[in-house]
Amino acid sequence: VAPTEALVRQLERIVGPGHVVTDLEVIAGYTADFTGRFRGHTAAVVRPLDAAQVAAVLSVCRAEGVALVPQGGNTGLVGGGVPLRGEVVLSLRRLDVISDVDPVGGQLTAGAGVTVGAVQRAATDIGWAYGVDLSSRDSATVGGTIATNAGGLRVLRHGDTRAQLLGVEAVLGTGEVVSHLGGLLKDNTGYHLPSLLCGSEGTLGVVTAARLRLVPPPHEPVVALVALSSVPGAVELAGSLRRELPGLEAVELFFDEGLDLVCTATGVAPPFARRHRAYLVVELSGGEPAAAALAGLLEGSGAMANSAVALDPVPAAALWRYREAHTEAINSIGPPHKMDVTLPPATLAEFVEAVPGAVTSIAPQARTWLFGHAADGNIHVNVTGVAPEDEAVDAVVLELAAAMGGSISAEHGIGTAKRRWLHLNRTPAELSTFATLKRALDPDNVLNPNVLLGG
Ligand code: MLT
Ligand code: ZN
Repeated sequence: VAPTEALVRQLERIVGPGHVVTDLEVIAGYTADFTGRFRGHTAAVVRPLDAAQVAAVLSVCRAEGVALVPQGGNTGLVGGGVPLRGEVVLSLRRLDVISDVDPVGGQLTAGAGVTVGAVQRAATDIGWAYGVDLSSRDSATVGGTIATNAGGLRVLRHGDTRAQLLGVEAVLGTGEVVSHLGGLLKDNTGYHLPSLLCGSEGTLGVVTAARLRLVPPPHEPVVALVALSSVPGAVELAGSLRRELPGLEAVELFFDEGLDLVCTATGVAPPFARRHRAYLVVELSGGEPAAAALAGLLEGSGAMANSAVALDPVPAAALWRYREAHTEAINSIGPPHKMDVTLPPATLAEFVEAVPGAVTSIAPQARTWLFGHAADGNIHVNVTGVAPEDEAVDAVVLELAAAMGGSISAEHGIGTAKRRWLHLNRTPAELSTFATLKRALDPDNVLNPNVLLGG
């Protein structure tokens, strides 16, 4: 149901007239996703200031049978945060306050609209770090990263977003506000609602704030870019690094075609004179002694073809850029299909080598770009040269991943992009449990009805 004039007036009374956006030019910034693959439309974007306003907005929309799509920084990659069916967009960006910063306990409370980058800076200011880091840090928000259980570059070290949550405040689809922001490290008092809401993709409740645990900052970080001549060699090396280097912070993977594209798109020179098949970006804490331990391990492994090491922040950032620039470089050649899969270590290399051929067997004109989080078994399969609505390559890639023991979503979520294939990873009993939870917490199906289970 589309919002009526009367509903818009009601929403304006709750959030103030300046915060219900109906100007189509401004609305355009909220209706298409970052990739350009998912383009929706809406008559209104509502921008509440706090949980009470979110609850009031939800209750009037519910009464009118109008669905809402919660949105943070709009950096989602699976069409889960844009109004593909004319839903009202509930933008959480104004909930951008950081409070109750505790330098002793290493915790803070962040509103849903605070960016990940702002949490990182607030943590650094008190001598701590935030365990989640991702390339979209300055746009992605706390609420969105909780809704999708974002992973990113340091899952190996600190776990995913769920692992950082000491508590959340959220408005459920029933309109009830649940809040548990005390931040106790040990608190076994019943169901852990943060775990349930984290990764629920805005289908059960709208996260409005979170109590986040902070982690010790990396100590004298060392960054290396390691070139390898084979995919299995890269996968095996990632495993040895995890086993042998206690200060390991990150192990990221990309390949020759992706590096060429990054260099063309950014104008940055290639890292080595020769091309190599695979590359790992490795970060570890510990300065010179850690660099020496890494060098010893790399030489002993026999897999390394070349390497560059940086102990200072500027050259370290330059090495990271080869990996982090992949998303933008791929976007620059057209809207990609993004399939974000995890494979078990035993089939990871085989999947990487099989997937481009599987794609071209049904879409000869398509190009496949692979990169990801090697230590997590998480490969981002990006396919360009295919129409946004053509789902044939999605089917081939996701079915291949599932057949090889993998998950169809490592970190981006299901959204609208992968709903059709959720059954590849979830049993009928699990799906019916999901539906039971959805009915209990969002009985009128107003929160993201088109996402995860909907359709
Ligand atoms: C990344 O690992 O860079 C992100 O998941 C974004 C992407 O997959 O493009
Ligand atoms: Zn990723």
